[in-house]
Amino acid sequence: MNIQDYDFSGKKAIVRVDFNVPIQDGKITDMTRINGALPTLKLILEKGGALIIMSHMGKPKGKVKPELSLKQIGPAVSKALGVDVKFADDCQKADAQAAALKAGEVLLLENLRFYAEEEGKPVGIDKEDPAYEDAKKAMKASQKEFAKKLASYADCWVMDAFGTAHRKHGSTAVIADYFDKKDIMLGLLMEKEVKAVDAVLNKIERPFVAIMGGSKVSSKIGIIENLLGKVDKLILCGGMTYTFAKAHGGEIGGSIVELDKLDVARNVEELAKKNGVELVLGEDSVCCTGYDFSTFSVKPGAKVEVFPSNAIPAEFEGLDAGPVSREKFANAIKGAKTILWNGPAGCFECEDFTAGSKAIGEAIAKATAEGAFSLIGGGDSVACVNKFGLADKVSYISTGGGALLEAIEGKVLPGVAAVKGE
Ligand code: 3PG
Repeated sequence: MNIQDYDFSGKKAIVRVDFNVPIQDGKITDMTRINGALPTLKLILEKGGALIIMSHMGKPKGKVKPELSLKQIGPAVSKALGVDVKFADDCQKADAQAAALKAGEVLLLENLRFYAEEEGKPVGIDKEDPAYEDAKKAMKASQKEFAKKLASYADCWVMDAFGTAHRKHGSTAVIADYFDKKDIMLGLLMEKEVKAVDAVLNKIERPFVAIMGGSKVSSKIGIIENLLGKVDKLILCGGMTYTFAKAHGGEIGGSIVELDKLDVARNVEELAKKNGVELVLGEDSVCCTGYDFSTFSVKPGAKVEVFPSNAIPAEFEGLDAGPVSREKFANAIKGAKTILWNGPAGCFECEDFTAGSKAIGEAIAKATAEGAFSLIGGGDSVACVNKFGLADKVSYISTGGGALLEAIEGKVLPGVAAVKGE
């Protein structure tokens, strides 16, 4: 069913959103995901429906953790929606509150993951334990009951949690079994996200340039291999730089490196060559002798200097792309018609190491102004774009991190499959 065509009048809709938002000292520090869900929530209210909103936050693994309570985001959701949001303290005991809900009213359920059934994985039992398989079976059965209870609150289910659509959980997939097909649908955010991924994967205008950053090759290898079959240029930056430098015998000082992935790095280079993809790696780095990762700051008295990425003195570690690399990246992005960016080029949280990510963001904004389609995804790259004031200068900012990467790897997301009946 298409959400635009659905008649919500007098109906209750249970909507799975991804309100797993960053919170510091009780304050939401990034509203991207909440704002992303608003069009769907508002549409349902405008069409005369009542809303039951459900989400997870963090990974409480079946335990009630007050610091992960969704109650703390209720006021922000109320403000954003312009409607008073009621709160259900227990997502499995909201029968009376759901039943009393009238058209135009909104009920937010407590963190779904306070129940292990949401994820459907047995907790407190080792995979090696002989009793594990039985525990898994029992958990799958209670996950069905969990999802059935959520479904019982509403007349229809709307899946709008793109950020969690790569999880086959109670509220993102299993719940579909308890509704008639005509009463399940994707929300507007999901539709937009799926379209944006499609634009990058299937409607590519060339040249297509992808920029992959972040710390590890290992966590990105699936998507890197997939992209090598599609892009014209692949910029690899961030902590990955040093695994590549090391693979060629470079001196990388104390920089982050995956010594067991040197072969993987060499294979990526081989595959790029084979596919005719231009692999763009940084040549120099902004390095530091003492960076505090917990406060995102340079320790007092520590030095910050630029070195070639393959000749970093022992007491330094590379933390950002240097000036030569930045120019190389910007040149590679120039003239692109399709752009995908995931993962920063450095420790952008600290002013000393923002230049690499900023240069990339600005080059993307420029190419976008000249007609490119640009898709930015993953929490850190989105934070960069927001920090540099470039959010409205790129084509699309995804609310997905892992989900976006899996979608771009070409995997069918369980949250999408559940709605489309695949
Ligand atoms: C995310 O932040 O990527 C989503 O909310 C999914 O969270 P998860 O990785 O804990 O499933």
